[in-house]
Amino acid sequence: MKQYRVGIIGCTGMVGQRFATILENHPWFRVTALAASANSAGKTYREAVEGRWAMKSPIPSSMSELPVYDAKKDMDQIVSLVDFVFCAVNMKSEEITALEEAYAKKECPVISNNKQHRGDPDVPMIVPELNADHAQVIETQRKRLGTKKGFIAVKSNCSLQSYVPAIHPLLDLGVTKVLACTYQAISGAGKTFETMPEIVDNVIPYIGGEEEKSEQEPMKIWGKVENGVIVNAQKPSITSQCLRVPVSDGHMAAVFFSMEQKASKEEIIRRWNEFKGPAQELELPSAPKQFLHYFEEENRPQTKLDRNLEGGMAVSIGRLRPDTQYDYKFVCLSHNTLRGAAGGGVLMAELLCKLGYLD
Ligand SMILES: NC(=O)c1ccc[n+]([C@@H]2O[C@H](COP(=O)([O-])OP(=O)(O)OC[C@H]3O[C@@H](n4cnc5c(N)ncnc54)[C@H](OP(=O)(O)O)[C@@H]3O)[C@@H](O)[C@H]2O)c1
Repeated sequence: MKQYRVGIIGCTGMVGQRFATILENHPWFRVTALAASANSAGKTYREAVEGRWAMKSPIPSSMSELPVYDAKKDMDQIVSLVDFVFCAVNMKSEEITALEEAYAKKECPVISNNKQHRGDPDVPMIVPELNADHAQVIETQRKRLGTKKGFIAVKSNCSLQSYVPAIHPLLDLGVTKVLACTYQAISGAGKTFETMPEIVDNVIPYIGGEEEKSEQEPMKIWGKVENGVIVNAQKPSITSQCLRVPVSDGHMAAVFFSMEQKASKEEIIRRWNEFKGPAQELELPSAPKQFLHYFEEENRPQTKLDRNLEGGMAVSIGRLRPDTQYDYKFVCLSHNTLRGAAGGGVLMAELLCKLGYLD
């Protein structure tokens, strides 16, 4: 497989640090440019993350002495050093929109973890196991941007990364409604226990914008491509509540759902255990061998025990049982900065490489 030179925009942040650690030994991707804000620019990566390295493994040695560029001012230089960039930044919303479009227009594809372009019908939001066919809208987007190579592809919000894959293999049974309550880790806010002491011994019942994303983004993932753009699905109807809990990594969800053709518990579990998609069929390097794992134990999945399943790229499901108001209820878990953010971004980039969109 061809080797690709990649950049990390937002390399000092929680998601950026994850990108750095998972790209360290990647078989196809080599990090050749790092960028963040003007505050970090001019430092080496080691200096820029000093005192705020939040990963369990050390700073990758191949990156620790690389210079950190200013993502805006040094754009031309960054673009000359890479084949595409991963982007996860915390800036004003309109600045992120402009930054990502500017990279794309300079013929540098952007694999984004930011929310700004998620609603655009010609910007694919891909979970490689679920909707790899949405990549085709890149051609429409390139026409709009006036590019030959540049485009933006986005990763969905981390909150839905457990329950959307779990509901997906059941859609043809006519899933009518879904209720999902999420219990989300503090790394999802770019925080650690040191930088978010108010979460210790506490639950915070509000995460700005999260419930809207949890309800709306699945409809795009389950949408169909028509006339070169994604037309959102109209069902199932989803309602959610998102809570911040005192957990470092891993978003849990308690899910209730109903369907038109009621399937047995065994049939649902069989569908989960047998489910695979293009990520597995194409043997993408970051793909979990088994995407959905069903635990028979009553007290699983547990965040601490199961978030790192298959390198943090699998989804853990358990406690499927009938409900008094919906047909069934279950719990599910995914690692928010691995499958839910950087790992999911890397897997999407692997898919787009295989499909030829990054050449
Ligand atoms: N954490 C998660 O689990 C998660 C999951 C999915 C999506 N996301 C999304 O990913 C993005 C980043 O999240 P995060 O948790 O990694 O945030 P974070 O830890 O606060 O990191 C923010 C990054 O943005 C950079 N930045 C800030 N201002 C900038 C500017 N003017 N120009 C260039 N870079 C700038 C920072 O660089 P400096 O260090 O130089 O300031 C830092 O590298 C957000 O859009 C978030 O919604 C996060």
